[in-house]
Amino acid sequence: MISLLYVPSMAARSSAVIDLVKAALHRDHVGAQVAEDLRGERAHHHRGQVEHPHAVRRSLSVIVELSAMIETMGHIEPAHKSAFWNPFANMAALAGKAITIVGGEGCTVYDADGRAYLDALASLWYCNVGYGRAELAEAADAQMREIAGFQTFEYYTNPPADALCTRIADLVPMSGAKVFLTPGGGSDAVDTAGKLARAYWRAVGEPNRQVIISRSHAYHGMNAYGTSLGGIPLLTEAFTPLVSHVEQVPWDDPTALEKTIEMLGKDRVAAFFCEPVIGAGGVYPPPEGYLRAVREICRRHNVLFVADEVITGYGRVGTWFASERFGLDPDVITSAKGLSSGYLPIGAVIVGPRVAEPFWQPGATAVFRHGYTYSGHPAAAAVALANLDLIEREKLIERVAALEPVLAATVAPLSEHPGVSAVRSGTGLLAAVEIAEDLRAAGPAIGQRLVAAVRDRGVITRLLRGVALQISPPFVITEAELARITEAFAGAFDEVRRG
Ligand SMILES: Cc1ncc(COP(=O)(O)O)c(C=O)c1O
Repeated sequence: MISLLYVPSMAARSSAVIDLVKAALHRDHVGAQVAEDLRGERAHHHRGQVEHPHAVRRSLSVIVELSAMIETMGHIEPAHKSAFWNPFANMAALAGKAITIVGGEGCTVYDADGRAYLDALASLWYCNVGYGRAELAEAADAQMREIAGFQTFEYYTNPPADALCTRIADLVPMSGAKVFLTPGGGSDAVDTAGKLARAYWRAVGEPNRQVIISRSHAYHGMNAYGTSLGGIPLLTEAFTPLVSHVEQVPWDDPTALEKTIEMLGKDRVAAFFCEPVIGAGGVYPPPEGYLRAVREICRRHNVLFVADEVITGYGRVGTWFASERFGLDPDVITSAKGLSSGYLPIGAVIVGPRVAEPFWQPGATAVFRHGYTYSGHPAAAAVALANLDLIEREKLIERVAALEPVLAATVAPLSEHPGVSAVRSGTGLLAAVEIAEDLRAAGPAIGQRLVAAVRDRGVITRLLRGVALQISPPFVITEAELARITEAFAGAFDEVRRG
């Protein structure tokens, strides 16, 4: 058995060559045949395996030659010496094995070895318009040639930031909204909203309203507020309490919210943070009547309702915002991800008139003393505007609405699989396939084995809260691609159950 390896670029060649030689030196039966001209610039590359004794002999002589080449390549570090520290990864196990993604087109991304993967995640719920959209790169390019970045603290603004905020205010189901741009994504938006909630109550003369309530299973990002509000114990227990005055209620129980507000006492609660569809906690669409009930409770107790739409904003549930679909009438919306489809990082906190008023009304003296170096970054704003144009022009939100039942019908048969305990879908392009408890009982590595087995079938998914596999594809996904995702999941569950 020998490995065929065609290597596309000098950088990839160097680490690949080193790996190749190591493999040959350390394993029996492994030889290597390097494609005709290793020094040539081949765009096409491929990894495969064949059995051929002549090739093995030839490969071994090539390896000797390669060893000499490597001697002269001392300055090129092998991949496992990378200093890149992956978020959420066990680096002791991952170092040197990370998959290097080098390109993308539509719903497909490519790794450095030329392998194609159908991305069932839209990266991390964000690449809604798909990969390879030249017009978004052109929007960044054009803006950077004017002015790439300039701060917006206190006095300054710029045309794309202004236009983007007006555009978002027009799209959102609130009249008279104001928009506070954040640079990093959803976590910045959540921290901004948490601080704004407290600043608002102080500005209107109720400084005791400081408590923020969130839900079990909730994910609100990884900055201090988001971590403190999170409802996934594994992600919070090493850090909390970061922000004081946070409380948590069961994700599906409106009565628990009301009791907690009452238990905390009159005029103590500033806001309730709520993902309309719980995302990273495992994709839980709202139980029937839940959102209406909690919205009403917040109104009754004068608690701000913050809809965390970092995943659901900009079309993922078939409307511009989930707040529109579920009639939420929120006081504040946090958003990011789909705002730019991730072509450049940017987020937006969208503030309804009630919360904006003490800061905006004529003669107001309250100042929201908060912001980031890159708030209102012109290049990121220009890309976001081009992204919204694209979503509108290609009617991608209508497409999500049309694909919602298709996705649900395509993944539904997975619920019959003995390795699956539930399939959640039916709200936009969002689904989760929950791993049956007896399969999970086989060991904590089962989820990651499933993720790897799906990837071996050419599809990228990931594990949510240790219990479910995520599906949240780009809006441009086709029905055939949805079927491929389901096939890969079914095959992976078969494989892992076989042991
Ligand atoms: C609902 C929600 N809020 C906040 C965040 C944090 O966003 P980011 O990772 O862009 O900081 C996420 C990320 O997935 C999210 O799903």
